Amino acid sequence: MKVKYSDLIEQTIDFPTDEFSLDGENLLWYGVDLMELIKQYGTPLRLAYLPKIDENISKARRLFNVAIAKADYKADYQYCYCTKSSHFSFVMETVLKNGVNIECSSAFDLNLLEALFVEGKFSKDKIILCNGFKQPQYIENIQNFINNGFDNVIPILDNKFELEHLVDGANEKFKIGIRIATEEEPKFDFYTSRLGIRYSDIIPYYKNVIKKNKQVELKMLHFFINTGIKDTSYYWNELGKAVELYCNLRAECPTLDSLDIGGGLPIMTHLDFNYDYEYMIEEIVAQIKSVCQSHNTPEPRLFTEFGNFTVGESGAMLYGIVNQTQQNDRELWNMIDSSFITTLPDTWAIDQRYPFLSINNWDSPYERVHLGGLTCDSEDFYNAEVHSNAIFLPKMQPDREQYVGFFHCGAYQESLSGFGGVKHCLVPAPKLVIIDRDENGEYYTKLFAKEQSYKSMLKILGY
Ligand SMILES: Cc1ncc(COP(=O)(O)O)c(C=O)c1O
Repeated sequence: MKVKYSDLIEQTIDFPTDEFSLDGENLLWYGVDLMELIKQYGTPLRLAYLPKIDENISKARRLFNVAIAKADYKADYQYCYCTKSSHFSFVMETVLKNGVNIECSSAFDLNLLEALFVEGKFSKDKIILCNGFKQPQYIENIQNFINNGFDNVIPILDNKFELEHLVDGANEKFKIGIRIATEEEPKFDFYTSRLGIRYSDIIPYYKNVIKKNKQVELKMLHFFINTGIKDTSYYWNELGKAVELYCNLRAECPTLDSLDIGGGLPIMTHLDFNYDYEYMIEEIVAQIKSVCQSHNTPEPRLFTEFGNFTVGESGAMLYGIVNQTQQNDRELWNMIDSSFITTLPDTWAIDQRYPFLSINNWDSPYERVHLGGLTCDSEDFYNAEVHSNAIFLPKMQPDREQYVGFFHCGAYQESLSGFGGVKHCLVPAPKLVIIDRDENGEYYTKLFAKEQSYKSMLKILGY
């Protein structure tokens, strides 16, 4: 009878894979001996395996370029990295080494690019897509870039209020894009995204406002599907609508030449993950071409802004099991030496699952367990994988160490959990003011902390 943990994994997936293999009883990840790293650094341990970033950028480029060649598509493909998925200096340096363009989402992103520029790691020819809601500091930073000769900064208008502020203070003529407010998936709580300009307003807004403004040139239409690039009728329908709009807008606006289809290329989130990248990308390119042909519209340059796909699979989180408790006849709790809420917050917030494996003891029999985090929060646990409503680990034995690994968690987790003080989209921590009352009962205030500065954020991120 097959009862070993290794048997269980071999029955679940075609093991070993390019990514996961064994050395004796211990797991290797991309050939790296994880037990060695645990011996050296201890747990909990967050790992970033940079060659995977190079590999995924090359993979997407290859797939788009092949799709373009197969469809005889008459424009090129541009890979942008969506910085909010991981702003760490080592990630930014790796993506830039691959010659990608950048998509950013808030003011501090531009401070970060400036720091890289000063170090000679970022150049003025790069395209910078500025998405997101544009508050005064973000506007000012964009204008500084434009005025300093970053000719390929493209602010993407998120609403109809931004343009006048962008123009007021920019000395040069500059390019802009418009973000479409896409329809959400039918199961969502609301119908239309709060981000972007509604479909029906875009052409009138172009004709009445943008066209009359000689300081700007509309180059790009942008759309992003929150739920990602999936082979569903919802996705194809939204893509089709966006390309239709592109063609109609292009008929009015000869400078328009780019379509950004956003992020959302999925990554492996469980061990038997199966996604046909080749089919999806070829279909996207072919569909865009077909709608353009039916309108006699020149095909647009294609932009993507993959975040999770770029950096997700480069990340791993390793924990030690500190204890096992049995709380009733059936439930075994293995307590990790950290917290899911503070290290993998998506597991708690959106029930995100990750490929999950034991790091050692693969020859032991297995048992079904629940994993618990160290915080007092009852929601700080992980007990199911995408492909099975349970998790299994080698049986705990007294005086034997047990380690577990969560993989492909390289995107968003640090900014969401506030690693060292960073924030999602680098939106700074607010001022903190204390209110108290004096002996006469009059209230008084005291500033406990100033609003977070970009310098403090950049320092944490390694700039
Ligand atoms: C405008 C925009 N582009 C790109 C992305 C990246 O998405 P993903 O990390 O799924 O590729 C996001 C994510 O929220 C986004 O809002």
